[in-house]
Amino acid sequence: MKILNVVGARPQFIKAAVLSRVIRQVPEIEEVIVHTGQHYDINMSKIFFTELDMPEPDINLEVGSASHATQTALIMGRMEKVLLKEKPDWVVVYGDTNSTLAGALAATKLNLRVCHVEAGLRSFNRQMPEEINRIATDHICNILFAPTQHALELLRKEGLGDKSLFVGDVMYDSLLYYKEIVDGKFRLPDFIQTDKYYLATIHRQENTDDITRLKNLFYELGKLNYPVLIPLHPRTRKMIEEKYISNSLIIIEPVGYLEMIFLIKNAIKILTDSGGMQKEAYFLQKPCITLREETEWIETLEGNWNFLVGMKDDLLKEKLKINSFGPQQKYFGDGNAAEKIVKYLVTN
Ligand code: UD1
Ligand code: UDP
Repeated sequence: MKILNVVGARPQFIKAAVLSRVIRQVPEIEEVIVHTGQHYDINMSKIFFTELDMPEPDINLEVGSASHATQTALIMGRMEKVLLKEKPDWVVVYGDTNSTLAGALAATKLNLRVCHVEAGLRSFNRQMPEEINRIATDHICNILFAPTQHALELLRKEGLGDKSLFVGDVMYDSLLYYKEIVDGKFRLPDFIQTDKYYLATIHRQENTDDITRLKNLFYELGKLNYPVLIPLHPRTRKMIEEKYISNSLIIIEPVGYLEMIFLIKNAIKILTDSGGMQKEAYFLQKPCITLREETEWIETLEGNWNFLVGMKDDLLKEKLKINSFGPQQKYFGDGNAAEKIVKYLVTN
């Protein structure tokens, strides 16, 4: 049987790498990896294939950056040709990017079977491009793999329960696999010491595209009691001017996944608007502040492990002071989500 993996943006390389490792253990599966080209810088794309031991993409659609509609349409047009040629038994799409929706739309319109890994996530904020991508993708795919029971419940409420399965989170599988491997492989940047820095990432459109909000955010981060290490997403790099970056903000290029796990492990706390980073902080028992008004990963809010600090509040310092944490639950599965997904695809 043939499984065609659609990837395009940073978190999808990590998710697909987990599935790919399992797929390659099953001799009867032929795997085809299609990279849409949504992310293309070496440290936003190639580094993940190299360090996560994933085969290079068989096909790169090379769409590059564009507006939402243009990017989605370009991927669809180019994807259609690939799908007609490859005729996969299953198409796998991940997460909630434009590559996810475009891949799912192109495939379902050809009556190919498509599954959605990380289905059922909702922020209930339709201003987010990702929310539109998720809802549309879940409604058109044939099978939905939910990472948590909560996601499964949300899918049921939308009438999608019959085609939904709880399998756990492939990002949890990944973290368990790599979390010890990173030790001793990296060193902290100059001026940064273990447990004496905050680690921050910012790339969400709602934070970057409102320049006043972005400036305020950098201003608040610059006032904290420890330096803030920021591997900066190219989107944010393009929006923020040097003059808003105070001396206590240590800006570096985006890092690879393994280095990021290392940086999370050594930080005192995490500040982020990333979906993946909120969970990695939780898995590694690092307190997290989510720089947004809402989160899809509501499980991480329990026990003070994660706080929402949107720009309407001035809560950053207050929430950073909290240092009592409740027990964690096994919300994200047993670390074998990818095995469950591949087993389903092979037997259906
Ligand atoms: C996308 C996803 C988002 C995901 C994020 C992961 C959508 C709608 N958004 O957001 O859900 O969390 O990826 O990181 O699909 N750029 C570069 N080099 C690159 C890639 C991007 O310079 O390799 C710059 C370009 O100026 C581009 C901008 O970043 O216009 C935004 O990239 P894009 O892929 O459109 O969205 P992300 O913000 O990365
Ligand atoms: N990540 C990374 N290098 C970075 C920033 C993030 O490897 O410089 C990883 C992070 O550890 C997580 C994933 O990328 O596994 C999250 O991707 P991102 O924040 O881009 O997207 P989101 O999860 O918000 O969709």
